[in-house]
Amino acid sequence: MHNEHTDQHFQLRIDTEGHIEPRDYMPEGYRKHLIRQISQHAHSEVIGMQPEGNWITRAPSLRAKQILLAKIQDEGGHGLYLYSAAETLGISREEMIEQLHSGKAKYSNIFNYPALNWADIGAIGWLVDGAAIVNQVSLQRTSYGPYSRAMVRICKEESFHQRQGYEIMAKMMNGTKEQKEMAQDAMNRWWWPALMMFGPHDKDSPHTGDAVKWKIKRESNDTLRQKFIDKTVQQAELIGLKIPDNDIKWNEKTEHYDHGEIDWNEFHRVIKGNGPCNKQRMDHHIKYHNEGAWVREAAAAYKTKKLKKEELVIG
Ligand code: 3HC
Repeated sequence: MHNEHTDQHFQLRIDTEGHIEPRDYMPEGYRKHLIRQISQHAHSEVIGMQPEGNWITRAPSLRAKQILLAKIQDEGGHGLYLYSAAETLGISREEMIEQLHSGKAKYSNIFNYPALNWADIGAIGWLVDGAAIVNQVSLQRTSYGPYSRAMVRICKEESFHQRQGYEIMAKMMNGTKEQKEMAQDAMNRWWWPALMMFGPHDKDSPHTGDAVKWKIKRESNDTLRQKFIDKTVQQAELIGLKIPDNDIKWNEKTEHYDHGEIDWNEFHRVIKGNGPCNKQRMDHHIKYHNEGAWVREAAAAYKTKKLKKEELVIG
């Protein structure tokens, strides 16, 4: 009988486009790689609620407030799907939160920048969610079943996030001189950190080799970054925004935009904890996680009581 519990059999399933499910055999390295990536993805979704949450009470209209509320609620839900997907790999929610709070686990660099005004909410929706869509559409084809299914669900909501952000930017670029300046200033501050969201260059990425072998990543960091640039430059030009990169230029030969080099010192400084808002983001998460302990305890107590009652009935 063919032993299905071997790395060879596992790799054959990956190579033939099979989905790996929680109860299937998987090499420990595959499991660890996924726990790292999915839990950090979940952390990013939840921490990402903070910069936008600050603007719910300051939204310029009831419609804008409704849209922002809906978007932030979506992000919280994305975090829950992803924490649940990670839990299928044998890590608990508590362990993941502990890794976030201790700094052992990362979250996306982009959420360590401040949202200074309403144009930032437009730039976040358009650029940050726009970058996330490029990354997450590709991740829909990831080899791990629960992650792939979570991505399909999340991508349906991301396009609304990107459109509402672009609408804010288009409105402001069609507004007063001050509004145009605000939108361009937000573009200038969010463009480069959004490019960093895709991760280091492929040649500098320690995880891409395994990620591609195990079809966790279906396209590389640089490929996805280029896709985002090619799409977004045209959207910017359409509404009169200038890309803050003098090297941006369409290359007839490659049929892509050439662009300037990313400041990787800034990237590493921010992901090592020294960005503008790292401390604020973590203090906030720890404070409200602790304040919400009673909700988790009550839910757990209710679940235990319910289970005991069911046991009594079943006898
Ligand atoms: N921010 C923080 N850390 C980053 C990073 C970023 N933008 N890009 C890479 N890193 C870290 C990696 O986590 C890794 O560190 P680790 O070993 O401690 O985990 C190191 O830098 C090397 O990077 P690699 O490229 O080798 O790592 P990966 O192969 O994991 O690729 C990734 C990085 C492309 C971010 C990949 O993990 C991925 O696709 N993750 C899923 C998508 C995701 O997490 N997106 C975050 C944004 S979610 C979002 O924007 C929500 C939206 O709704 C607003």
